[in-house]
Amino acid sequence: GTTLGQSAAEKGRYFGAAVANHRLGESNYVTTLNREFNSVTAENEMKWDATEPSRGNFQFGNADRIVNHARGQGKMVRGHTLVWHSQLPGWVQGLDTNNLRSAMNNHINQLAGRYRGQIHSWDVVNEAFEDGGSGARRNSVFQQRLGNGWIEEAFRTARQADPNAKLCYNDYNTDDWSHAKTQAVYNMVRDFKNRGVPIDCVGLQSHFNNQSPVPGNYQTTLQSFANLGVDVQITELDIAGSGQQQAESYRTVTRACLNVSRCTGITVWGIPDHYSWRADQTPLLFDRNYNKKPAYNAVLEEL
Ligand code: XIL
Repeated sequence: GTTLGQSAAEKGRYFGAAVANHRLGESNYVTTLNREFNSVTAENEMKWDATEPSRGNFQFGNADRIVNHARGQGKMVRGHTLVWHSQLPGWVQGLDTNNLRSAMNNHINQLAGRYRGQIHSWDVVNEAFEDGGSGARRNSVFQQRLGNGWIEEAFRTARQADPNAKLCYNDYNTDDWSHAKTQAVYNMVRDFKNRGVPIDCVGLQSHFNNQSPVPGNYQTTLQSFANLGVDVQITELDIAGSGQQQAESYRTVTRACLNVSRCTGITVWGIPDHYSWRADQTPLLFDRNYNKKPAYNAVLEEL
């Protein structure tokens, strides 16, 4: 193929990008999006603070525009994200146990219900584990008020709300197979599969930089999750750097995914460097003038 999306499709996979609604009027941005990518994730527009800023008051305009653009172009859509401790409106933090449970389930029902049948995969729960060596659950309002059962409750609710979407658990710093956090997520997914909790995929965000580069055992991590009977998706890829060094890291990630049959797709977390959430690290595949970087060429060669 001559584009990322087309080449990935030839390998039975997708290649996506995170998209910001407020860029959809920029012609270079839209031209590159439409040409190169066959999957779209809303960078912020489906998050809880954007979609339910006050209780029961749902706002779907910006998310709808992204979904409609993607589907109008024949692209698939990843839903990001139903339950996350961050970008969570203040009103959720103040709820007691019963109200938090009903607010969480209602939020999932409203989001997954609105886009029912239109979402390839939902990040049902995002970032529920602590960093560091403890392997513990993050001390979020969900964990505090609802206890250990909240993650599986979210997955069961999501399955009912959109039975056709693949349901993913998504996290970062879960790339190195030897890390406690990776093992903690692995153990949760294994337990879910053993007990019939509905989970279909694990998303590895894969935000890499000099402090946390692509680990040498990255493919082992992908394969280990896949061996549990779930798909693996690389959901928010970006890699700090430039030139050939950055290109080789992107090549390694792409090759690892292609080497794992259940690694079904890669999403990069933005299109041109200067719109990245980490713009100072120039972590993406296009420069600020939408020129293809060496990293782009490495990915396309590998695909
Ligand atoms: C980031 C967005 O890129 C930023 O625009 C926003 O200000 C903060 O969130 N993990 C995730 C993503 O799951 O939703 C985050 O996206 C990056 C880290």
